[in-house]
Amino acid sequence: MISLQGIVPKLAAQAHASRIDGAIAEVFRKASFSGFEDVDGLAFTRGPGLSACLDIGLKKVREISLAYNLQTVGINHMEGHALALRLEDPSLEFPFLCLLVSGGHSQIVLVSGVGQYQLLGETLDIAVGDAFDKVARLLRVSDLNGGPALEARASLGRPGTLQIATPMKKYKNCDLSFSGLQTAIDVELAARLASNPGTFISDQEVNDLARSFQDAVITHIIHRLSIATKWCTAQGIETKTIVVSGGVACNASLFQAIARDFSGFGYRVLRPSSALCRDNAVMIGWAAQENVNIGQNIYTPEELQTVRYIPRWPLDGSGTDYFPGTHSAHSKSAILAHREETLAKALESLEETFSAQTAIKVCRTYLSMEKYQEAYDLAQKAMPLFPDDPYLKALGEKVNSRYKSWRNKYT
Ligand code: KG4
Ligand code: ZN
Repeated sequence: MISLQGIVPKLAAQAHASRIDGAIAEVFRKASFSGFEDVDGLAFTRGPGLSACLDIGLKKVREISLAYNLQTVGINHMEGHALALRLEDPSLEFPFLCLLVSGGHSQIVLVSGVGQYQLLGETLDIAVGDAFDKVARLLRVSDLNGGPALEARASLGRPGTLQIATPMKKYKNCDLSFSGLQTAIDVELAARLASNPGTFISDQEVNDLARSFQDAVITHIIHRLSIATKWCTAQGIETKTIVVSGGVACNASLFQAIARDFSGFGYRVLRPSSALCRDNAVMIGWAAQENVNIGQNIYTPEELQTVRYIPRWPLDGSGTDYFPGTHSAHSKSAILAHREETLAKALESLEETFSAQTAIKVCRTYLSMEKYQEAYDLAQKAMPLFPDDPYLKALGEKVNSRYKSWRNKYT
């Protein structure tokens, strides 16, 4: 895997292009495969990510699938993180709550099945891994992917030397925010440097600030997770499992704190092994297998030639706000923008292929935006075309009833 943190997209794309054939050769060597003749199918990351890098992967699978007549599965990177643990722990059943924490994302997702994801909350600013990396740079602990180094320094730090307020305490939803925590360290460091010009702070001070930052991150995440567990209970969703995944899940203090706090409420708190927490190709292969098992997202070599990569691809395309009325003005506009964007993307894929799946996506988005007329019109068009699709049928019924009560109210 090529780390993209801090590297400009063009260089990242060049690195992908120059290494992809070597990576494939290495996989064959390790697996003792003689070539693609030994392969049953292909999996690739369709998004989200840098366009230039996604493009390289897609072009490669297009070429191979045609040459060897192989079917291909297109995977959402975050789905890879969410399902990774099921490879190592087949006893992990749906539904479970998933904390996805990496350098690019911070999300709390309810995973009810393969392809069934509800995004309960996500960061409104930077990802938690990004915040770790930035603080590691500020404290001169590490220049790149500084999370592990900062954790090591935090383990030597004393608790409570800098009190950092927990973000968004008054907003009772699952959104997250980390830029304020980073700023708190930035401001404190600047003050200490100003009072002692010409020298950097001591090692002990670095450790203490690292500890204060990490503790604040942990408190914030646990607070948001506790809102998620209460929401699940209120919805009657039976889950007693929390999975922590993504690179930041490697942070032992974070994981242990979540395990300690939630085990008291009867939760199992689990994470994949560190190699599977961090970005890796195995999780994409595994998520592909999970999709194949239910016949989803599979393309023939011919279909693949017109499939596009998706740089911004929310795991939950419904755009649903699961905590209406609990957001700050800032996050409200962020959610609106997110929904508009989701709708535009969903309409784009509907235009590309009018399938039950794309129609469902657009219908759900319309519902979440209270566009009942549009949802109804589309459901009326799609249902006769795909009469055997149980998901479309269920959604069609929901659309009908919402549409009727809306009509009754306004006409
Ligand atoms: O999932 P990942 O490998 O790549 C992305 O999709 O971003 O996550 C990488 C991120 C980096 O920001 C890295 O600093 C952070 O995960 N990370 C950690 C730890 N190990 C990795 N952050 C805090 N503590 C750790 N032990
Ligand atoms: Zn990742």
